Amino acid sequence: MLENANTNYLPKLDRPLSLGVVGCGKISQIILPMLAPFGVRVVGLADANAAAAVELAAKIEGATALPDTRSLLLSSLIDAVLIATPPDTHLSLTKLCLEHGKAVICEKPFVLCQDEARMAVAAAEAHPGLRVACCSSRFRFTPHAHAAARLLAEGALGRLHSVRIFVSGPPPPPNDHLPPWKRSAATAGGGIFADWGGYELEWLRGVLGPAFDPAVVNAQLNHWRREGTDLESGYDAQIRCRSGLHDYRSLRRKSSPERAGPRESNSTKPELAEIYYLVPRAMVDPAKIPVRRSLVCPSA
Ligand SMILES: NC(=O)c1ccc[n+]([C@@H]2O[C@H](COP(=O)([O-])OP(=O)(O)OC[C@H]3O[C@@H](n4cnc5c(N)ncnc54)[C@H](O)[C@@H]3O)[C@@H](O)[C@H]2O)c1
Repeated sequence: MLENANTNYLPKLDRPLSLGVVGCGKISQIILPMLAPFGVRVVGLADANAAAAVELAAKIEGATALPDTRSLLLSSLIDAVLIATPPDTHLSLTKLCLEHGKAVICEKPFVLCQDEARMAVAAAEAHPGLRVACCSSRFRFTPHAHAAARLLAEGALGRLHSVRIFVSGPPPPPNDHLPPWKRSAATAGGGIFADWGGYELEWLRGVLGPAFDPAVVNAQLNHWRREGTDLESGYDAQIRCRSGLHDYRSLRRKSSPERAGPRESNSTKPELAEIYYLVPRAMVDPAKIPVRRSLVCPSA
């Protein structure tokens, strides 16, 4: 997100925005102090742990800690709400914000599963005057992404046939090193795919533009070093786009078995899944994505 961004490449608001924030944990503590130069004023903070809101409000000029989320939503000073709580709360909070006339920007992963994605889209469509967005940008507003988008737009790279993304990182931490909500797909939505998959999709959309119009996504999850949990530790995905000749590939293996050497990989049988991931509405019509087998919705 902003910590990876060069502000020269970030879009500017055409008028100041007054933001309320629900969830004052790790990501809010990182992001909120950076927003002022973009014309975003953080005016209200709420958290299930009221002390967290008080503590963060003391560090943000002009921000007031509200006793709870409903008090924040009743404030006429707030244009939009940033939802920065664990993923299993995103859908209900999104609906609540809309019911109170607030636009929503929600942390990723936006929702837990397809069923929730459809409910979120339906809630957004029931409030056409309000915008609902998920912030899943991390690498798009970097000088490299900007340069790549420019070269593509200028045609300097010729005709594009495929794009491959490879992201690698250290092995996933043991479960007990994670915050409680991140230890299970029921609350986190999944492992590394739920956590980071949106970044790659958003990067592809941002750099490639309308040519990135996914039609079919085939993906394979792996659970290398994650036995005993329902959190995937890596994935391969191949995305075929409607733009026909394009065949974009996104590949990610957190804690890559290849890098560690095949013998160290004790991955269980790969779980094959046809994956749907919620991407901005403008990007793809979910109804048109063929889904043969979907990720299980914990709340279904
Ligand atoms: N930590 C990161 O680096 C990072 C980066 C990008 C995105 N995110 C996303 O941001 C969201 C929050 O992550 P985090 O790391 O800040 O979590 P966190 O556990 O540090 O903070 C979550 C906060 O939400 C509060 N909360 C929980 N349920 C609530 C509810 N129903 N109403 C009001 N407050 C509630 C908790 O009390 C806590 O203060 C997640 O969706 C995560 O994927 C986190």
